[in-house]
Amino acid sequence: MCGIIAYTGHQDARPVLLDGLRRLEYRGYDSAGIAVINRRRIRHFKSAGKLAVLEQQLPENLAGKVGIGHTRWATHGAPNDTNAHPHTDHSQRIAVVHNGIIENATALRAQLADAGIACSTETDTEVLAHLLAQHEGKLIDAVRSVLLRVQGTYGVAAIDQRSPDTLVVARNGSPVILGIGDGEMLAASDMSALTRYTRDIIHLDDGEVAELTPAGFSVTTLDAHPSNKQTTRLSGVLEDYDKGGYEHFLHREIHDQAEIVRRSISGRLDQRFSTAHLGGLNLAARELLDVKRIKILGCGSAYYAGMAGAQMIETLARLPSSAEPAAEFRYRNPIIDSETLYIVVSQSGETFDTLAALREIQRKGGFVLGIVNVVGSTIAREVDGGIYMHAGPEVSVASTKAYTSMLTVFSLLALMLGRLKDVSPQRGAALIKGMAELPQAIDATLLLENSIAAIANKIAPASSAFFLGRTDAFPVALEGAQKLKEVSYIHAEAYPASELKHGPLALITEQTPCIVILPDNELLTKSISSLEEIKARGAPVYTFTDSADSRIEKLSDDVIRIPAVEFLFKPLLSGICLQLLAYHTALILDRDIDQPRNLAKSVTVE
Ligand code: G6P
Repeated sequence: MCGIIAYTGHQDARPVLLDGLRRLEYRGYDSAGIAVINRRRIRHFKSAGKLAVLEQQLPENLAGKVGIGHTRWATHGAPNDTNAHPHTDHSQRIAVVHNGIIENATALRAQLADAGIACSTETDTEVLAHLLAQHEGKLIDAVRSVLLRVQGTYGVAAIDQRSPDTLVVARNGSPVILGIGDGEMLAASDMSALTRYTRDIIHLDDGEVAELTPAGFSVTTLDAHPSNKQTTRLSGVLEDYDKGGYEHFLHREIHDQAEIVRRSISGRLDQRFSTAHLGGLNLAARELLDVKRIKILGCGSAYYAGMAGAQMIETLARLPSSAEPAAEFRYRNPIIDSETLYIVVSQSGETFDTLAALREIQRKGGFVLGIVNVVGSTIAREVDGGIYMHAGPEVSVASTKAYTSMLTVFSLLALMLGRLKDVSPQRGAALIKGMAELPQAIDATLLLENSIAAIANKIAPASSAFFLGRTDAFPVALEGAQKLKEVSYIHAEAYPASELKHGPLALITEQTPCIVILPDNELLTKSISSLEEIKARGAPVYTFTDSADSRIEKLSDDVIRIPAVEFLFKPLLSGICLQLLAYHTALILDRDIDQPRNLAKSVTVE
């Protein structure tokens, strides 16, 4: 999704902006641009396509110590050169970049037309540049006054050639982070664009505006009241994240997963009481005992992880638990009650719909826990308590290690809640042992890669595939189908195997590969009957199982034998197999694996 980087300081802005944009690339974008103030004149360059296309256009002599940059993911208007950001007013005095959606852009455009100012792009952002140019005073005052007329969401950065060392940024619903340097200031929509330059950051809150010059910054509200902001110093080794020798981030991130799980469980296994220790919940055991239900909310893979998590919690803690897409939940006037524990799940901590669901629940008095990866993200800051995933940066648009880390955190939470309720110390100890052994089981699963790649070869020519799994294998099937769709563009659908004969069987032919997730559990024999139904229709069957049952071989074209682990962790291992399947299929089809078409990593608009 769109990304912003802005700079003012002693360095040349251009390389800083381009480096920032490169670090934002992973979010997904369709065009990019920069503007710098060069000899008291704004010069801006923008183009559809990848950053390399923009770089080719930039003249050698583009000096200037203040500038803004943007990667755009089209919402209003096609992804072309004209609609790319920055946008300027007609005299090119002001340049603006913007993330989010201006909902009253049509009305503002009409007001500009009445004043004789015509817009030349299809974007909602352009109105901001013209409105700002109508003000003669300081840029900060112009930004405040214009934003008071704007309805919608924005992260915005503006420059004015009349104040050639000043940047103004503002936030409402779309993240903006300030980077405080020595003789230089930065702002970005994503921490990853800042950490090369500074460890001192400030998160703007909604309704705040900041004025940045090389010498300092000030933060105020839209109605000009000073905001008291604290600088946060990022600690630890800041990871300079690369492909680590792999051809794609997705492949690296799949292979990182044993280490990620090790990190997610580190310090959280309590051997003494055979439970999990989760420090940030802000809930005492007594309060947890009062919880009667669990509701989990997220989008995309986070929602599917939530579905898996709901089953884990229901199984171990015997608490009715369910997951729902955050966007649907918030719009159906949900009943919020004090006996339900709400959990929002998000890798980025910035997904707009998940954040909006969180705010709606809190507005109605509900208590919300967050399972979040990005430390200091908006969701992480607004929840009532939470568990960080510690998955490190995830760059590939399609989630893999963050999804696996979500499942790991849910298994910790399920164990902890289970030990308050139904799970004996002995059973708890066995689950802890299983959890501690999980990284080795993941390494063993990754060794199946060549056999999985061979299956990818067979499914790559298909135009449609089915993923089948029952009960706790069903969310795995959903996520497996999602992964295949995202990175290979093959149409894929997931069903509980039991639902086959109620509709989808009509589509099962020799041309529709069926990927079956078959955990060794009490439903095994019933699931094997489903294999027979599929085989009878001639469809190729690829089975992922930890069972040694000989019937499976006879009914499958290929069988991948996954290491046997505690039931709680089976979805995690089969999920990794399906990630490898999607990756290798996309590789064969030569897709844009890390940045699939039309998709964004962090969806910060509705
Ligand atoms: C986007 C990404 C998905 C991700 C979803 C939720 O759609 O492409 O990979 O699962 O957002 O993101 P979050 O950051 O909230 O986990």
